[in-house]
Amino acid sequence: MGSIQTDERIKEAVRETYGGIARRFVEEPASGPEKAAEGPAPASCCGPSEAVADERPQTSCCGPSEAVADCSSVAARFYSAEELTDLPDSVADASLGCGNPLAIAELQPGEVVLDLGSGGGIDCFLAAKKVGPKGKVIGLDMTPDMIKLARQNAKKIGISNVDFRYGEMEDMPLPDDSVDVIISNCVINLSPDKDAVFREAYRVLRPGGRLSISDMVVDGDLPQVIRDRLDAWAGCIAGALDETVYLDKIRAAGFERVDVLSRDQAEIDEATEWDEVQVVVAGADGQEAKDLLTQTGLSPRDLVSRVASIKVKAHKPA
Ligand SMILES: C[S@@+](CC[C@H](N)C(=O)[O-])C[C@H]1O[C@@H](n2cnc3c(N)ncnc32)[C@H](O)[C@@H]1O
Repeated sequence: MGSIQTDERIKEAVRETYGGIARRFVEEPASGPEKAAEGPAPASCCGPSEAVADERPQTSCCGPSEAVADCSSVAARFYSAEELTDLPDSVADASLGCGNPLAIAELQPGEVVLDLGSGGGIDCFLAAKKVGPKGKVIGLDMTPDMIKLARQNAKKIGISNVDFRYGEMEDMPLPDDSVDVIISNCVINLSPDKDAVFREAYRVLRPGGRLSISDMVVDGDLPQVIRDRLDAWAGCIAGALDETVYLDKIRAAGFERVDVLSRDQAEIDEATEWDEVQVVVAGADGQEAKDLLTQTGLSPRDLVSRVASIKVKAHKPA
């Protein structure tokens, strides 16, 4: 059965969600720094949580929850203390990924790196350190307020080899064969046209270039009632493809040596299973999540165990 959502509606929902998150961190000169609203602390960004710390409702940084206070716990989960040192709060707290693509990117000094869906810029700033002054990092994002936040963060850090550009990863504003490495953290699942994303990634990479991504995938399929939810799209779940289908799309674009280097899934017990279900059906409150699950006929564990965050590496032939 096809989805009731159109590509335009999905993109609009994604843009609205991430624009709202970005605005919590953008500092307007007139009003001063705007702090994120107090609320339940997120234990997971974009999916399975390794540790649901307490009994507060689970929220997803990647998702649409109004209650997202900050994502600092997410940054601490995916990045080392050394990586996070020196980064302003508006970088680390706005981290919305589901992994750390730099861990597999093997960046070298002088390389040109493109980050698809760069958000507040965390991976760009870390990559910029690795490629050094002779290298360059381009952050691409389709949400104007995210670009604003990332540029503000670059100014705070005083970094000059990172350039944030507005644009869509399905139609990248970059020339052919112009990039050594593409990274991306929890973004490609948000695209309604993943074939176009991988086709474009292949086009802009130079021969011999590589793709290093962290993203959400599922095992099998998700129930249509979840796939149809715009908040679950923005929450990095509804657009997540079956892992095999996802990898086949990378290969179909021309990439070779496509390898999954890690796969993380939520560990749930009775105390946390409903929190995790709420992450999967992002935006749903407790009762709504229960009603949705009843419609799917799945147990909380069955549903949550289908979702994983993977790190994938792939190469454009030399
Ligand atoms: C889950 S956030 C991840 C941000 C960042 N990678 C991080 O780890 O913090 C997704 C980001 O991707 C951007 N995005 C979503 N779809 C996009 C598209 N089709 N083209 C470009 N950017 C997109 C959103 O605006 C948002 O900033």
